[in-house]
Amino acid sequence: MKMEAVTGYINKNEKNFVEELKEFLRIPSISTNLENKSDVRKCAEYVSGQMEKIGLENVKIFETPGHPIVYGEYLKAGKDKPTVLVYGHYDVQPVDPLNLWTTPPFEPDIRGDNIYARGSADDKGQVFIHFKSIQSHLEINKTLPVNVKVLIEGEEEIGSINLDKFIEDNKEMLKCDYVVVSDTSMFDHEVPSICYGLRGLAYMQVEVTGPNRDLHSGSFGGAVDNPVNALARIICKLKDEKGKILIDGFYDDVLNLTPKEREEYSKLPFDEKKYMKGLEVDELFGEEGYTTLERASARPTLDCNGIWGGFQGEGAKTVLPSKAGAKISMRLVPNQDPQKIEKLFTDFVKKISPKSVKVEVKSLHGGNGAITPLDSPAMDAAVEAMKKGFGKTPLFTREGGSIPVVNSFQTLLNAPVILLGFGLPDENAHSPDEHLNLKNFQRGILSIAHYLNELSKIKK
Ligand code: BES
Ligand code: ZN
Repeated sequence: MKMEAVTGYINKNEKNFVEELKEFLRIPSISTNLENKSDVRKCAEYVSGQMEKIGLENVKIFETPGHPIVYGEYLKAGKDKPTVLVYGHYDVQPVDPLNLWTTPPFEPDIRGDNIYARGSADDKGQVFIHFKSIQSHLEINKTLPVNVKVLIEGEEEIGSINLDKFIEDNKEMLKCDYVVVSDTSMFDHEVPSICYGLRGLAYMQVEVTGPNRDLHSGSFGGAVDNPVNALARIICKLKDEKGKILIDGFYDDVLNLTPKEREEYSKLPFDEKKYMKGLEVDELFGEEGYTTLERASARPTLDCNGIWGGFQGEGAKTVLPSKAGAKISMRLVPNQDPQKIEKLFTDFVKKISPKSVKVEVKSLHGGNGAITPLDSPAMDAAVEAMKKGFGKTPLFTREGGSIPVVNSFQTLLNAPVILLGFGLPDENAHSPDEHLNLKNFQRGILSIAHYLNELSKIKK
């Protein structure tokens, strides 16, 4: 393939690609909000329009019980060429707290090297990297170096609840030699890296009910248990002060880091002081015996994501509330089974709950972690592509976030997955002022264009 002409086209169109990306970023495709349901659909339609525009064929919007899945393909590279499945998501996280955004989340704004908008890094910008790489190849060479299938879903941020069934129902359509996912971050600015591990997740909700109605805390306080206090006592018993999770059996299936892995981790250029400074915290907190990088990517966690109950308004109200609740999620490491962990969590919470309140435990969603092998032809091709796109040899890292479908691709399609992401850890994914570095957007397009070409060199 004539790569020079392709990279020339990419460089020439740098500004146009960014302008086009803005249109994608303007659609408020928040998958968890019911009121955004039609926006999510509009976004699926936008994605399918883009797929057609760049030259993919058989583009189709698939309905699910939730948000639509968009699929397109280009299979004219030749039967002797490998087939690559590209996966990404067009849904985004909610935008609250809105007042902390410098510019509105769905009005993309370029400041310095970055484009600011919800979804810019996670994951619309990264999906667009693939679209523009494919477009560039097709414009210049009128074909692609490999056969490509593109699957973009709208429910990743809510646990990809309908995707496994879709994959199972469409195994033939999705059959491929490799899967590539750009939905992770690189290690740091100017430190390109390839992610080879993700954590899983078990997301729970605990609801505590005390008396049948809110009570005057003067008349009843001291005699009747307070659900907010009871919930706080329960939460405190889930994890000790050294960061160890106390749920019976929680660590049973944890795959420990190998000495070799720990050695590799220790070589990563991580500046703990800078990390703390960036977060404005005076001390870090985590499981004893592990480094910060290990804690944040290769060890399981338990965190309260939200908590409610009682009077939240301004001023004071003397009330003994009837109800309280909390959302508690656990990041899991590969080999920990989310369903098993859900059960262990539920049993443990029931065991430690006081009789003075009623406690209900619900599971919201979960997903498996994943590890991808480092020594595979597809990984070698990824390293080569990153070298060409970034001018530097990439490092290997594991990340603490979750992409549930990665494990499903490995098990249901039996295909190796390569996590070739172009975000940065400080781009505020899931928080106000999310942004994407435009230099990495450009280098990402170049890297993926090279990746398709590198993959075509692998013998089938
Ligand atoms: N892009 C992230 C996954 C990610 C985050 C990878 C950080 C590497 C580092 C993805 O969109 C995401 O946020 N996933 C959710 C999945 C969950 C809802 C099942 C997550 O990790 O919270
Ligand atoms: Zn994402």
